[in-house]
Amino acid sequence: MRADARAPIGVFDSGVGGLSVLKALREALPHERFVYYADTAHAPYGERGDAFVLARSLAVARELVEDQGAKALVVACNTATAAAVHVLRATWPELPIVGLEPALKPAVAATRTGCIGVLATRGTLASRKFQALHAALAGQARFLLQPCDGLAAAIERLDTPEIIAASARWTGAIGRFGSEPGQIDMLVLGCTHYPLVRPQIAALVGPQVTLIDSGEAVARQTERVLRSTGLLRTPGQADGRLHLLASGSTAALQRAARHWLGWAAS
Ligand code: DGL
Repeated sequence: MRADARAPIGVFDSGVGGLSVLKALREALPHERFVYYADTAHAPYGERGDAFVLARSLAVARELVEDQGAKALVVACNTATAAAVHVLRATWPELPIVGLEPALKPAVAATRTGCIGVLATRGTLASRKFQALHAALAGQARFLLQPCDGLAAAIERLDTPEIIAASARWTGAIGRFGSEPGQIDMLVLGCTHYPLVRPQIAALVGPQVTLIDSGEAVARQTERVLRSTGLLRTPGQADGRLHLLASGSTAALQRAARHWLGWAAS
């Protein structure tokens, strides 16, 4: 594998959720070229168990690195990062790989009530990686953790009634929201699908609650890593192209990119 700044950045998720990260990446790195892979034939990952997610993450990463020639990888999925990022790093030790974790640290820095809600997949919350993060911060705030079974799947299907029903079910189950002591004032969107339905979730929890995700932090981290490895494109090398790939229907992924982000992409 030869590192080349002109090569694309590979980004993947179980499905359409990583588009929320890709949006932040493209805004922060407008000169870069991206290849996005949605593993839609195997989504969602969140309720499938580690062995399945690890095997799929390896297969998708191999496609991006070995077939598409990606110069770096962004694992735009909390569930896949928790299950597989250590194996991906061991498999391609020279390759810059940026993973995601639910934004607990910025939530701790911003909370006023000391009470933080975390919405994520069952797989993420059960992972050792998440449990270590939670344990490291547990003394600094009270965290209410809520697995959101079915929400990512509803977003994949563009099923608006079920998106609203699942969002209401899981935000209703987590606790009380507001700015009074003991109420949740920060809500971490710990799955990359959830920022796509931020307006629906925001409407349920009310205006006093701040919704926080990891997209912009990951974009900044990706820029830092590319710069330090000499792989960042300069404005003179501007490209900005986006290639969308899927293990399921590419046309459906393009429709999803248009629906969620207003993009027309090749
Ligand atoms: N978007 C993914 C995440 O960030 C996973 C959703 C799923 O496939 O269950 O966790």
